[in-house]
Amino acid sequence: MNSNWSTQTKVGEFVEDNILCAQTFEDLSIDFCCGGETSLENACLDTGLEPEDVLNRLRGLENPKTGQEGDLNSVTPGQLTLQIESEHHEYLKKALPRIAELLTKVLSAHGDRFPELIVLEVKFAELREELEPHLLKEERVLFPLIRKLESEELGQNMKAVSGPIRVMLKEHDQAGDLLKNIREITAGFKVPEEGCQSFRLLYEELKFLEKDTHLHIHKENNILFEKIKPVN
Ligand SMILES: [Fe+2]
Ligand SMILES: [Fe+2]
Repeated sequence: MNSNWSTQTKVGEFVEDNILCAQTFEDLSIDFCCGGETSLENACLDTGLEPEDVLNRLRGLENPKTGQEGDLNSVTPGQLTLQIESEHHEYLKKALPRIAELLTKVLSAHGDRFPELIVLEVKFAELREELEPHLLKEERVLFPLIRKLESEELGQNMKAVSGPIRVMLKEHDQAGDLLKNIREITAGFKVPEEGCQSFRLLYEELKFLEKDTHLHIHKENNILFEKIKPVN
């Protein structure tokens, strides 16, 4: 817990200070990645949640164990790019085709009774088309550039990365919007009573994908890009 926290603290900052806040925000449907710059008070508007109640809940969380993701602030930007690639990019590269295949299977079995699956397939395909090239841009262009600049000890002179970062931020917003669409289409990943095992598995996979991508985008937007913010 951080004693400086208040309802004016930015939601991304809570997660930076304590990674366990990410789960609380997920549970409350508060956007801490693309919306990480919003204060807790503003993030609670339209949710029916009392900012003070949420703040108390966050304050009640334990501190993450050392060695867990809690100390991302102490790693260098270059180390963080490697951590993001191995943890989140590798996951997405396997999960996106796996979920697409599962979705096709569930759609062919239940598409006539659950037409929302047709819309879901379209939105999921859009998300995949957005994310797959995005990962490659980070892995081939932005992340190697960050590591190169870091190894050359150019320190704060990171202006070269500001263009690619702007593009990545925009793509994160687009992915965030598509994840919101998917949550709406699936009514918050609620499986219909008659839904089979594959249907259940599909919604679990989608829910995990949403959670992992929120954390992934948070690490890039609110930690990595903040660390290397160009001077000026
Ligand atoms: Fe990424
Ligand atoms: Fe990204």
